[in-house]
Amino acid sequence: MITSRELVKKYLNFFKSKGHTIVPSAPLVPEDDPSALFINSGMHPMARFFLEGKHPLGSRIADVQRCVRTDDIEEVGDTTHHTFFEMLGNWSFGDYFKKESIVFSYEFLTQVLNIPPERLWVTCFAGDKDAPRDGESAKHWQEVGITKERIFFLGKKDNWWAVGETGPCGPDTEIFYDTNPDKLLKSAGCGPGCDDRFVEIWNNVFMVYNRQADGSLVDLPSKNVDTGMGVERVTAVLQGKDDNYRTEIFWPVIEVWIKQSQKEYAGPNQRLYRIMADHFRAAFFMIADGVVPDNVMQGYILRRLIRRALRAGWQIGFDKRFYLLALDYWQEFYLKTYPEIKDKRDQAKQIIGQEEDKFSRGLKKGERELVKFLAKQGDNKISGQQAFYFYETYGLPFEIVADVVKEQSGKLVDKDQFEVALKRHQQKSRTASASMFKGGLASHHPRAIRMHTATHLLQAALRQVLGEKIKQAGSKVDEDKLRFDFTFNRSLTPEELNQVEDLVNQKIKDDLAVKWELVNFKQAKKSGALAFFEHKYDEKVKVYTIGDFSKEVCGGPHVVSTSQVGKFRILKEKSSSAGVRRIYATVE
Ligand code: ALA
Repeated sequence: MITSRELVKKYLNFFKSKGHTIVPSAPLVPEDDPSALFINSGMHPMARFFLEGKHPLGSRIADVQRCVRTDDIEEVGDTTHHTFFEMLGNWSFGDYFKKESIVFSYEFLTQVLNIPPERLWVTCFAGDKDAPRDGESAKHWQEVGITKERIFFLGKKDNWWAVGETGPCGPDTEIFYDTNPDKLLKSAGCGPGCDDRFVEIWNNVFMVYNRQADGSLVDLPSKNVDTGMGVERVTAVLQGKDDNYRTEIFWPVIEVWIKQSQKEYAGPNQRLYRIMADHFRAAFFMIADGVVPDNVMQGYILRRLIRRALRAGWQIGFDKRFYLLALDYWQEFYLKTYPEIKDKRDQAKQIIGQEEDKFSRGLKKGERELVKFLAKQGDNKISGQQAFYFYETYGLPFEIVADVVKEQSGKLVDKDQFEVALKRHQQKSRTASASMFKGGLASHHPRAIRMHTATHLLQAALRQVLGEKIKQAGSKVDEDKLRFDFTFNRSLTPEELNQVEDLVNQKIKDDLAVKWELVNFKQAKKSGALAFFEHKYDEKVKVYTIGDFSKEVCGGPHVVSTSQVGKFRILKEKSSSAGVRRIYATVE
């Protein structure tokens, strides 16, 4: 039997043997995409490199990436949904394409994981107005040995993958595992994506387009491959299990909980155990990556997960701190895969413990308020909407509201009304998190990003050559050139222009790291970061540093190291307005 850790190891070793550089997982909170709360796939941290046309560590990359998806937290509780999950992936940046990608996948599945070839079925893109039918992938599948009957063509819904609403995207081919060849198909012609006998195990995306804000597609600088394989699901499939929670990723934890509570993993409790296991694992990884419970952004998601998991535990009959053993287990379990989680369990225990205390206090207060409210209502009755108010304000779940009302008055609360209010609320928060993905890094052009970094270098160089009194008065970048306005009261000499240009190119050659951190504006100013616009003092701002040459408050995005900027060239220097000079420059 292959364990999940063996799967990860075999995957990375296999792709290493095929010339891939293995890179570490990026942290869960995106480092250069403020438009998303969490990294949602192995591809997500790679997106910028697809826009730029290359990855700094080579044209063949593979990794195991920790991910979080928060679109359907409410679905967690069934056999397959997770908030946190691991994704294995291999990438080609303008290196191999469809054929090799398909050959690699087939070889890994049949030779390394020893999956019988006849258990594998695939789907390919059927074609539409955006891109043609992917007969090429189908041909390569047939060449490796997948018979025609096991190849299906499906539309965008199934065979297209995009990193976001804009940005890298393309047709994909999905590989399915047939869990039960003896089972009759639901209906004739029903195959992968139609009958749940087939479980999707791997997705190979051919990233060739960059979707623009107006919906149109332009070609990326090169033809690329992006693949993704979910560790939890594939582990379950390889172990012949139809419930991800029955694998060694979760089961030892659930088993202890069963012993402690004397409640079987069956009936409604099954769902509760899964919620506990999924959410506490996600909370552990979020905390390890620096997230703390809060009412906004990542912290809000963490708070919801912890509270939902605590409540599930209380419903089973647990009292306090019942998750400690689970945190111990996952810290050990994942340590080799993610060495950065070392020593994080105590922090996780402490943070979840504080949240637990806060949540219980809130619930007690909510109950008191509810009793008071009921006493004021003549007939001791509340509507579903009022029940929802107690849920929203104090976190009182429907069941608790219903219990208290019943104890006080023997009356029932309208559950349908409550559900309607809850759905409306969920819809709102879903829309809010979906819009987080709009207009992020994906909408920036790679050349404009390089120009942007060049602008920072230019400002620092001007300060060095002309003195620190010069001040930015404006700037603009696009794909072709950059424009930088600054206060200075005479034209620059050819020598000065040469000096500035050389200095920028020297810093590009030095390949300085471009980094950012989030700090209070006040702190940023104090540390000497240049700031063009005025910010409110308590506002958190991003400060970009380039080696120790430049430091500016800026929203980004930028390249990761200066060698990616290319050669810098000043095109023109002229007067812009009284006391303000303007420089046009470009990168090659
Ligand atoms: N990026 C692709 C996915 O997440 C591989 O399915």
